[in-house]
Amino acid sequence: MKLVPKSRSVSSANGAGALQELKKPAARSRTIRVDFKDVVEPRESFMDKFVIRGGNPLVGSIRVSGAKNAALPAMAAAILTDEPVTLENIPDVRDIQTERNLLVSMGAEVELGYGRAHHRTTICCNNLVNPEAAYELVKTMRASTLVLGPLVARMGRARVSQPGGCAIGARPIDLHIKGLETLGAKITQEHGYIEASADRLRGGHIVFDKITVTGTEDLMMAATLAEGETVMENCAREPEVSDLAALLNKMGARVEGAGTSTIRIQGVGKLHGARHRIIPDRIEAGTFVIAGALTCGDLTVANCEPNHLGALLQKLEECGVQLQTSGDSVRVTGNGQLFASDVSTEEYPGFPTDMQAQYMALATQAEGTSTITENIFENRFMHAQELVRMGASIRVEGSRAVVRGKTSLSSAAVQCSDLRASASLVIAALMADGETILDRVYHIDRGYERIEEKLRSVGAQIKRIGEMLPKRAAAPVSVA
Ligand code: EPZ
Repeated sequence: MKLVPKSRSVSSANGAGALQELKKPAARSRTIRVDFKDVVEPRESFMDKFVIRGGNPLVGSIRVSGAKNAALPAMAAAILTDEPVTLENIPDVRDIQTERNLLVSMGAEVELGYGRAHHRTTICCNNLVNPEAAYELVKTMRASTLVLGPLVARMGRARVSQPGGCAIGARPIDLHIKGLETLGAKITQEHGYIEASADRLRGGHIVFDKITVTGTEDLMMAATLAEGETVMENCAREPEVSDLAALLNKMGARVEGAGTSTIRIQGVGKLHGARHRIIPDRIEAGTFVIAGALTCGDLTVANCEPNHLGALLQKLEECGVQLQTSGDSVRVTGNGQLFASDVSTEEYPGFPTDMQAQYMALATQAEGTSTITENIFENRFMHAQELVRMGASIRVEGSRAVVRGKTSLSSAAVQCSDLRASASLVIAALMADGETILDRVYHIDRGYERIEEKLRSVGAQIKRIGEMLPKRAAAPVSVA
């Protein structure tokens, strides 16, 4: 695929010409004319690609959205009451749309904010007629299983599809099921579905064999309506767990200890409606911090919570990244001088696995050898081979990746495989020589709100190109 400048702008007539052009069989190399200046982008679609021209420093202020991994359990928590729950600072990403579809499929009313209220949603579950999470939805987003605990607790029954495999690992939900059985639920599994029922859950003592984020959240929600006290040990301490507990307590629950490894929940008879603002997305913030460092820019990552980024910022400073944190922002300036440093992913407050791929992109530009050990998921190095296609020197050995730096990266056609791997490829493309084409960017739309617009606002040359729909003319062309 070849990218060449084109002088004249494309009107609908030419649009048709361009469409003819694009529809020609793939055998022959095709020309896609890209203009990074006048951006008329197609609405997100599964066919989308990004075209990124590297070499532009990111300069200015970039705003972080609400946390996807806090918004998803918060939306599931609305199931626990028949009164409206209003959530603010909800990110406009594909996984949130999936969660909305899931709640609506059960009978919930989901109101979407728009205009200034664009990031607000009000959910009312006073008429849940169908306590089921169907395979069609669960297969697109495993976090759909977060409705299991709330449905059993509130409705006394739930039918939830088994999530099945995932690109980054097996990711079973056996600990969710074991915990619900401890709270007295009767569970059967057949035809790919988990069927759970209980007249009323009863408090119990849960010790997680392994630290699980959504497992902690799912059972914490279930225990709020159980009879008596539940004590959960070896819990996840992620900020998203604490944010969920804050919402539950606003709904009248009695949750203590969230954010520590031991959580106590006094069950209550009924929960009520509430209003809650979701915390900022620490992984989106971390992604932008690394992009700022690697493009040798001067970037302020705003509307984030620096305290949630402790392990990452500490590691970046070890690598020589200049950082300043203040209030709700992190300022990063890069001078291209980076030193290798090993990292191992751990549960919070350790180095987050959701930043491992982005860190690997950074390690390709650091002087020396960095060893990256992935301890949380067994198959989370899919991005490594794509980075190697761009010129990186990376050797994967089981749960370890050895990155030799510094190597200069050059543009290539690369493929996104999962959400965070996509972010790593976007970062690599921002600093690579030439124009990189990222395929399957629908992965990134799952968890990053309009990332191309945000990056363009601070100087990146990035463009979304979709399957040209008849009604939309191709973008005008003149390479800036
Ligand atoms: C959450 O996934 C996040 N997703 C993930 O973010 C994140 O990578 C992960 O936590 C770890 O931080 C959401 O919050 C929606 P786990 P979760 O249960 O809860 C094993 C992203 O990029 N395990 O903490 O599914 C599991 O296989 C996503 O935004 C069991 O064995 O992760 C894994 O090895 C990707 N049995 C480990 O525990 C269980 O029942 C940790 O998984 C549950 C988990």
